[in-house]
Amino acid sequence: MTDIDSLKEEIEGRIAAAADLDALEEVRVQAFGRKGRITEMLKGLGALDPEARKATGQALNQVRDQLQTALEARREVLKAAALDARLAAERIDVTLPVRPEPQGRIHPISQVIDELTAIFADMGFQVAEGPQIETDYYNFTALNIPPEHPARQMHDTFYVRGKAEDGANLVLRTHTSPVQIRTMEAGKPPYRIIAPGRTYRSDSDMTHTPMFHQVEGLVIDRDITMAHLKGCLIEFAKAFFEVDDLPVRFRPSYFPFTEPSAEMDIGCQRGGGELKIGNYGDWLEILGCGMVHPKVLAMAGIDPNEYQGFAFGMGIERIAMLKYGVPDLRTFFEGDPRWLKHYGFAAADLPTLAGGLTR
Ligand code: PHE
Repeated sequence: MTDIDSLKEEIEGRIAAAADLDALEEVRVQAFGRKGRITEMLKGLGALDPEARKATGQALNQVRDQLQTALEARREVLKAAALDARLAAERIDVTLPVRPEPQGRIHPISQVIDELTAIFADMGFQVAEGPQIETDYYNFTALNIPPEHPARQMHDTFYVRGKAEDGANLVLRTHTSPVQIRTMEAGKPPYRIIAPGRTYRSDSDMTHTPMFHQVEGLVIDRDITMAHLKGCLIEFAKAFFEVDDLPVRFRPSYFPFTEPSAEMDIGCQRGGGELKIGNYGDWLEILGCGMVHPKVLAMAGIDPNEYQGFAFGMGIERIAMLKYGVPDLRTFFEGDPRWLKHYGFAAADLPTLAGGLTR
């Protein structure tokens, strides 16, 4: 009996002394593990005579229960202490400065292409592409600009050394209109495409850069009229400039590949070194357009008696400057991070019609 009592005291002392959960676990194993002191004593009961077994058994069970209760109580205390220690150690200092914002910006040209795409995709257009190094044929001839046509001179063309595989002369495309031809040649009508991309002209001053961007539009189907052209472009201009009562007018013009041809103006106000888009009485040209010339359709293998359509082309830098108030064209291509920081757009702000184009 005294054996059991002194063992109990000893183990109680160790429980109380256990400084952490690991130490406490060690005490538990020493008492109750497979080779534990209490376990061994319980095993030894079998060797005793019935009388002694009963008395010793009862005493041992009681001590076992008491020790287990003590272990449990100590475990709770140590657990709470461990948690307190962790909370103290892992405290977060919310006064630390936030991480710097990402510095990357979407270039206004990319942003405007995304906006155009959102607007025209909503009207059922697909995005098409064509090569920037074009043949003479696609850039001019197929667009009803034959060799010696004066319009070729007006384009300030960059000629490329060497020839295409079929011997054709190569140019840097002077407009995105060759994508009209490539689209028509590639499949059957109807077509409804826009083709944004780089274009090149040998011209460099305040308002011209040798490389710039255009977006082409082409719609070909049965029974397409000038009314469709106007409806589509008016809708576009209102959505893009985000002005509901935007005044619009179409002036007769000339392009070899459209007949009739027009230029589209939108309302604006000039003065005070500022330009405002809206219903202010003044006009500003934004694009060229027209009904696709029957000769162009025929050259692309489309029967002009069965299909008609319209096309338009506009300068992306130009509409970007108008919408976002960029005063100088050349700054678009200087790669100045301060300029991009000012005029650029956050990467996550993809323009959608539903979300508001610009935000
Ligand atoms: N390609 C013409 C230009 O660069 C624009 C245009 C495209 C006009 C399509 C009419 C139709 O000026």
